[in-house]
Amino acid sequence: MKLSHRITNITGGGSDGWDVFYKARRMIAEGIPVTELTIGEHDIRTSPAILEAMNRSATSGHTGYAMVPGTLSLRKSVAARIAARTGVPTTAENILITPGGQAALFAAHMAVCDPGDTAVYIDPYYATYPGTIRGAGAVPKAIVTTPDTAFQPTSAALQEATKGVASLLVNTPNNPTGVVYGQETLAAIARACIANDLWLISDEVYDTQVWEGHHVSPRSLPGMEERTLVVGSMSKSHAMTGSRVGWICGPAEAISRIINLATHTTYGVAGFIQDAADFALKQGDAVEEEVAAPFRRRRALTMQALAGQNVVRAVPAQGAMYVMLDLRATGMSGDAFANALLDAEHIAVMPGESFGAAAAGHVRVAMTIADDQYLDALNRLIAFASELAAQ
Ligand SMILES: Cc1ncc(COP(=O)(O)O)c(C=O)c1O
Repeated sequence: MKLSHRITNITGGGSDGWDVFYKARRMIAEGIPVTELTIGEHDIRTSPAILEAMNRSATSGHTGYAMVPGTLSLRKSVAARIAARTGVPTTAENILITPGGQAALFAAHMAVCDPGDTAVYIDPYYATYPGTIRGAGAVPKAIVTTPDTAFQPTSAALQEATKGVASLLVNTPNNPTGVVYGQETLAAIARACIANDLWLISDEVYDTQVWEGHHVSPRSLPGMEERTLVVGSMSKSHAMTGSRVGWICGPAEAISRIINLATHTTYGVAGFIQDAADFALKQGDAVEEEVAAPFRRRRALTMQALAGQNVVRAVPAQGAMYVMLDLRATGMSGDAFANALLDAEHIAVMPGESFGAAAAGHVRVAMTIADDQYLDALNRLIAFASELAAQ
């Protein structure tokens, strides 16, 4: 039977970029120990206090259909968090609770792109971006950045690429590069959106993981509130990846329309999960800092391990749970290096090419294992790269 073009075209026909990851998983299944530095998931689980809140909610009966836009209490908590952090007045009407940031990314593109519209994103990119755009019926178009600008888009590229398009998707702190966009980049993004009259979709799921500078939400820039949809999530900030709870924050009119989409797709998020998320947000910043602390520590370990050699260079990692390593001195592609490292050292990292053409010759290392094992793996990666570069 014929399937729709929309569904068969989601991955664009190419590899999904996860080949090294699958190979590592096959090796593990065969009993070969592999150090996995691939996926963006904490080495801790959701805290017992949050799980107790979830359990309390479920056992007290919050297991039926929940309100589609989200519980009023959670919407208010998310709105208060955003207002406090950005200074932009935000109420429950600006918030839709979604099953994770991924569902929010999809809903946001559905909301602002008609079939055939062009939706821009920045390369390197989080692996689902082009597929999400295609799934929403739009046509993905990348702005390819370069290592010399620390993978931040230039003002000229933004202006040029956003002419006549429906939306621009940005992500800061960034996965995969760990880069936090500076004021100049954010101002250029705002200028392009206003000049070319498009929506900004701002993926801020790593907003609690900032190691240098601070996170600025582009929604807070002059003229941006009415044209920005912010994507947020409890996955990274509270180690709640499996709970699937996130949000979209945007103008009330847009949110009320996206609620119609939620009614006809997800039909909301489980009430006990929302109550757990609400409980978690009400614990304040200290909990988020605790969840982020291991990545801050390991990022410092990374910088120490890389000092005193110049084969492996880090893209300045200012945020998120990853470090992007430049391996071009080995003369290999990121893909060839990641495969060779897995075969020789049984260490799995993601080839930069999995995140787009801009990250060729790089690998992304997820800082998601215990400090001593992480440092050991990193030292072995550096030694391996140095041997290759010397050949
Ligand atoms: C940049 C970025 N956006 C969105 C997501 C989706 O996260 P979730 O759906 O778990 O909230 C991820 C997950 O890794 C991510 O890295």
